[in-house]
Amino acid sequence: GNESTVSITVVGASGDLAKKKIFPALFALYYEGCLPKHFTIFGYARSRMTDAELRNLVGQTLTCRIDQRENCSDKMDEFLKRCFYHSGQYDSEENFAELDNKLKEHETGMVANRLYYLSIPPNIFVDVARCASTSASSANGWTRVIVEKPFGRDSESSAALTRGLKRYLVEDQIFRIDHYLGKELVENLSVLRFSNLVFEPLWSRQYIRNVQLIFSEDFGTEGRGGYFDSYGIIRDIMQNHLLQILALFAMETPVSLDAEDIRNEKVKVLRSMKPLQLENVVIGQYKSHTKGGVTYPAYIDDRTVPKDSVTPTFAAAALFINNARWDGVPFLMKAGKALHTKRAEIRVQFRHVPGNLYKRSFGTDLDRATNELVIRVQPDEAIYLKINNKIPGLGMRLDRSKLNLHYAARYSKEIPDAYERLLLDAIEGERRLFIRSDELDAAWELFTPVLKELEDKKIAPELYPYGSRGPVGAHYLAAKYNVRWGDLS
Ligand code: BG6
Repeated sequence: GNESTVSITVVGASGDLAKKKIFPALFALYYEGCLPKHFTIFGYARSRMTDAELRNLVGQTLTCRIDQRENCSDKMDEFLKRCFYHSGQYDSEENFAELDNKLKEHETGMVANRLYYLSIPPNIFVDVARCASTSASSANGWTRVIVEKPFGRDSESSAALTRGLKRYLVEDQIFRIDHYLGKELVENLSVLRFSNLVFEPLWSRQYIRNVQLIFSEDFGTEGRGGYFDSYGIIRDIMQNHLLQILALFAMETPVSLDAEDIRNEKVKVLRSMKPLQLENVVIGQYKSHTKGGVTYPAYIDDRTVPKDSVTPTFAAAALFINNARWDGVPFLMKAGKALHTKRAEIRVQFRHVPGNLYKRSFGTDLDRATNELVIRVQPDEAIYLKINNKIPGLGMRLDRSKLNLHYAARYSKEIPDAYERLLLDAIEGERRLFIRSDELDAAWELFTPVLKELEDKKIAPELYPYGSRGPVGAHYLAAKYNVRWGDLS
């Protein structure tokens, strides 16, 4: 049969995401020999640019981070030679038809697959989907479109966006990215659960007291406030990244590893959950803080943020899954910017040992003696299990120790960026790590009512100092369910 080629068009080629993530990920894939033999990369944006200028722009973002072997700069040159640019409007079928002509020059005699990465604001997703599908879709292969959040700001606007896209594309052509699903330790969650006998049998209300999903960044919006202020941390992190991790964590065993089987199980978890209630949410916003002579700005000091903004930069929430496996187990989420540390992790706190023989060794604080499994997604990837252990010696004294799988110590290979995996999967048509539209709908249903309530009532966030551990309200919320945040104890 015919050979095939893939034409990858990055729409919004001069934007931040394209420069920081997409082009570098494409190069890393090329470097590793993961891209198909025949491929072409096009940048598409409104500004006028020549191919040489695009190559120059892209070239500046590429690094040989994989290793410093001698042929890296040759590889870069080879890669850049396969990058081109077309300037056009995002809503012009005519401009996309011109792109189509240019793509065809590279596709002659081959099955021509086309991948569009919409690295643009969502209000023009539908325009581009229309133009690409009417004027620049593949004549004899597949056409796929990658989009990335924000997918609307509530159930209604998200559904409208989905309807808009589906006027021009079928569900199978739409690859919705949640880049957290491309992270190594998130992908490993299923391996950990389903291929180790010691975990899955414990994975239920019978043994697990609570699950904590924690995201923190040690920097604020720093100029990105314009986007952030109309979304806030609940939409930016919880409704997508943390909820996706929760779904993978809590789902039943899928029938197989096929994308549809996995996504069927994930959507079942989401649909088994009650929408988040106001009494189960705490919101915060960072205020200015001076430390060691340096003054860190408040959120509202960001020039792109209105002075009277009540947008949360921090939120903590308690969610519940109403099914046989998880009934009554609190799933606590916490996400915040401008906190004391940068970290994303999953903490699983196990129950007490019934009739623990060593109770007395722990004094009154038995809670501290329960096992805890920590999956540190980033940075410094690790999986560790806190256990009780006898301190060597003649006496009987116990302490807490870790069984520790520290990735940097165990594996020498550098962990690929999430975008590398996701781009490769999109090229290969592997949909496992992409969000299906029913998952997206279910995710919005959980957060839309509370977001509306917070905004209608203009509920003021609790202020916390930049660089702190966040508002104390988060502790009260956890305490209400008898939980202590693992990252703070
Ligand atoms: C994005 C959010 O989805 O994820 C950002 O919009 C956030 O606000 C980012 O900073 C965090 O991603 P990562 O991969 O750096 O943890």
